[in-house]
Amino acid sequence: MDYTIAVLAGDGIGPEVTAEALKVLAAVGERFGHRFATQQGLIGGIAIDSTGSALPEETVALCKSSDAVLLGAVGGPKWDNPDANVRPEQGLLGIRKALGLYANLRPVSIHPALIDSSPLKADRLAGVDMLVVRELTGGSYFGEKRRERGERGEWASDLCIYHQHEIERIVRAAGELARGRRKKLTLVDKANVMETSRLWRSLTTRIVKEEFADLSFDVMLVDACAMHLIRRPADFDVIVTENMFGDILTDEASMLAGSMGMLPSASLGTGKMGLYEPIHGSAPDIAGQGKANPLATILSSAMLLRHSLGLEEAARAIESAVYATVEAGIVTGDIAKPGQTPVGTSVVGDAVVARLAM
Ligand code: IPM
Ligand code: MN
Repeated sequence: MDYTIAVLAGDGIGPEVTAEALKVLAAVGERFGHRFATQQGLIGGIAIDSTGSALPEETVALCKSSDAVLLGAVGGPKWDNPDANVRPEQGLLGIRKALGLYANLRPVSIHPALIDSSPLKADRLAGVDMLVVRELTGGSYFGEKRRERGERGEWASDLCIYHQHEIERIVRAAGELARGRRKKLTLVDKANVMETSRLWRSLTTRIVKEEFADLSFDVMLVDACAMHLIRRPADFDVIVTENMFGDILTDEASMLAGSMGMLPSASLGTGKMGLYEPIHGSAPDIAGQGKANPLATILSSAMLLRHSLGLEEAARAIESAVYATVEAGIVTGDIAKPGQTPVGTSVVGDAVVARLAM
């Protein structure tokens, strides 16, 4: 079968890590008899530099005409002025919104070979296998933004707004995902303070009672969740939460997996089309040095095969090749253990490709 994939490499380490994922996709295609036609598009800082916009029209059109999108990362010091009118992050938020990708899946598990790479104690990490389902197109990220000067100086506001249908569809998506796992769903909110959270809580409680009575369900305040992620991470199965809480908690949870460089993500909407990206950023401090860990992006390409193209066997082949590479100790500096010599980005990518052919 032939598939089309839009590739938005973006800034910083984005081009380096997506290049490795593309090698892996070509190899898996070879092995299973699929052809992936890839086409590059501009997003983020590089798009600002060449077109003046962080998300050019052509990029949106390219994504809409593709079966799936693979994205690297956006942003960097060159475009860091928070007062600028155009910022790289607008590209990422814009493409999520333009494609209607409201469900962001961020799985967090730790391979046994990486337990010593995590800053957490090994006994806390046994059995960690969770999926954070982050709402991606609502909340304060997309509510009205204001910045004005009043009599007593400047003021600013970010409206945090959620509509019933936005909450219901993500809760249903999370419920279905929990059903295919350990059947545990946790709603994370701040219902003791936020009205939006109180709406989330009442709608979620009702939906779970009426449609997901087979799941075990609990609610947790986001501050307590931040603590329990470290204290008893193995207890979590599926977490569903709003946009900003999901952003913050998944950076924290990535430490359970050893490194940000290990965590993939999938952003899905109502159809099959999805956007796949590592949860890490553009890492300008190591960009262009060939040091970046490409595994989060390679694992994102496995999620792409699974969720957008329905190629489960090929997805698993990539995941097995990644784990075999990690087990062989062929790793970048972020996850190298004492005594292990870190290798470069493309060496890791080549090792995954070699294990795919085995
Ligand atoms: C992420 C990132 C983005 C977000 C930024 C770059 C806008 O942190 O994907 O987690 O906040 O969603
Ligand atoms: Mn983030």
